[in-house]
Amino acid sequence: MATIWAVVNQKGGVGKTTTAVNLAAYLAASRRVLLVDTDPQGNATSGVGVDRRNVTSDIYSVLVHGESVAAARRPTATPNLDLVPATMNLAGAEMEMFAAPEREYVLKRALAAVAGEYDFILVDSPPSLGLITVNTLTAADAVIIPLQCEYYALEGITQLLEIIERVHQHLNPHLSVGRVILTMFDGRTNLANQVMGEVKSYFGDAVSPVVVPRNIRLTEAPSFGQPISQYDPRSKGAQAYEQIAKELIADVERKTGAGAGSGRSDSRWWRRGGGGGTGAA
Ligand SMILES: Nc1ncnc2c1ncn2[C@@H]1O[C@H](COP(=O)(O)OP(=O)(O)OP(=O)(O)O)[C@@H](O)[C@H]1O
Ligand SMILES: [Mg+2]
Repeated sequence: MATIWAVVNQKGGVGKTTTAVNLAAYLAASRRVLLVDTDPQGNATSGVGVDRRNVTSDIYSVLVHGESVAAARRPTATPNLDLVPATMNLAGAEMEMFAAPEREYVLKRALAAVAGEYDFILVDSPPSLGLITVNTLTAADAVIIPLQCEYYALEGITQLLEIIERVHQHLNPHLSVGRVILTMFDGRTNLANQVMGEVKSYFGDAVSPVVVPRNIRLTEAPSFGQPISQYDPRSKGAQAYEQIAKELIADVERKTGAGAGSGRSDSRWWRRGGGGGTGAA
């Protein structure tokens, strides 16, 4: 059964989509992967080369019209990587889902039907903590939080962790913070290093030891509809995501090797460290 990873941060532009697309592509080098775009902006969709104008069936059809993921997904140009696309249709979906029975579980149920066909399912989230993100967290085994290395990196993090904790308590007892990934890191600045220190003291060993550098190639790749593994596998950004993908595989193997029920959900819980000064609010 697939391990489901939700890439979540309600702050805009912190590297969620870049992280979801490129980790999915590197995971697909050795595993079967489904990337699910749940952002009406559809950046993950175009990022793997799917033209949104040609999409007839998308995550909106799944969440609102009860279509199967098997019908909505499509292969991508990357072998072993399938995509459930998103389009602007999704923009009004939260309103339409509001009256659905058990509306927080819609995505979880939809993904369960295909979970046996994949090793990893990665869900890219919109910059909000609305019902779609709650669906994503309810469906997930673990959360990946990308944090941009800037002064306000931890701004809003308390609110995000409150939502994660609430979902953990009421909707999904399996949920844990799997990885915190520092993005757009510029090691030449004192600020980036200071932010890294504070994020580590806040999240402890959930922080990936591999940071993603600020790298222009990562910015260019989406305009060619290519993951960085295809666009420029030698770039620094590519190397970072390749390493992090290996980490995720090792995390899962460690967890399954340790036997069911003894997973990471307690050992990597997010409360450790507490505090954190860089804009944490
Ligand atoms: N490591 C990086 N180096 C340079 N540019 C980056 C890096 N990561 C992301 N970017 C660029 O920063 C911008 C925001 O990244 P991205 O779209 O991944 O963020 P996001 O969190 O998904 O945004 P949104 O909240 O709008 O969905 C994009 O233009 C992207 O190409
Ligand atoms: Mg995005």
